[in-house]
Amino acid sequence: MSGTRKSPDEIAQELADNGISICENFIDIETTLELRSDIARLKSEAQFHRAGVGHGPGFGIRDTVRRDEIHWLAQDGANEIQKFLLAELDLLKTAFNRGLYLGLNQFEGHYATYEPGGFYQRHLDAFGDTSLEGKSRVVSVVLYLNDSWHPSDGGELRLYLQNSHRDIAPVGGTLVCFLSRETEHEVLPSAARRVSFTGWFGRGMF
Ligand code: OGA
Ligand code: MN
Repeated sequence: MSGTRKSPDEIAQELADNGISICENFIDIETTLELRSDIARLKSEAQFHRAGVGHGPGFGIRDTVRRDEIHWLAQDGANEIQKFLLAELDLLKTAFNRGLYLGLNQFEGHYATYEPGGFYQRHLDAFGDTSLEGKSRVVSVVLYLNDSWHPSDGGELRLYLQNSHRDIAPVGGTLVCFLSRETEHEVLPSAARRVSFTGWFGRGMF
């Protein structure tokens, strides 16, 4: 049985009210499986690389900060399943612009895999008004693609809220949205292999 799913407008409303939104079953099990197969194919073709931190001259691979491998998706050259995912996220962008007047006009995103022992230390995805190469991240989205997930696997996304935190298990099909400049977060150490897609809606300076 596939569960119900929040509409893009409901997700936008939650983001407006709470600064975060969690949506189970954002994509169905079959789509999760297809995206996982796409990741397996790209891995076998050596199209993943270790993710770095920082930018410009400060960019580097730092084992103590994050340990995932990523593959960036592009609209150009996207295959069917990638196009489907990007189209679903585009509907979300429209809802965010309608509901929050964010003027989002850009998107970038990548698949990510964490091998057992992987983590990503507490961080923000964007800082104040500084923009990278004319781009500024406004809303972060993470979509989990794991087959099954058990509490002992760890690997939760920890969102730091005003006076508390919230841990979200990376259950396949679950989408998490939060404001890139306001919500510090981390990936707790994962005991199992962990697969996801992470993206950012932003505003460019055209
Ligand atoms: C990121 C990130 C969170 C997650 O890639 O910047 O914070 O749960 N990912 O994978
Ligand atoms: Mn992040």
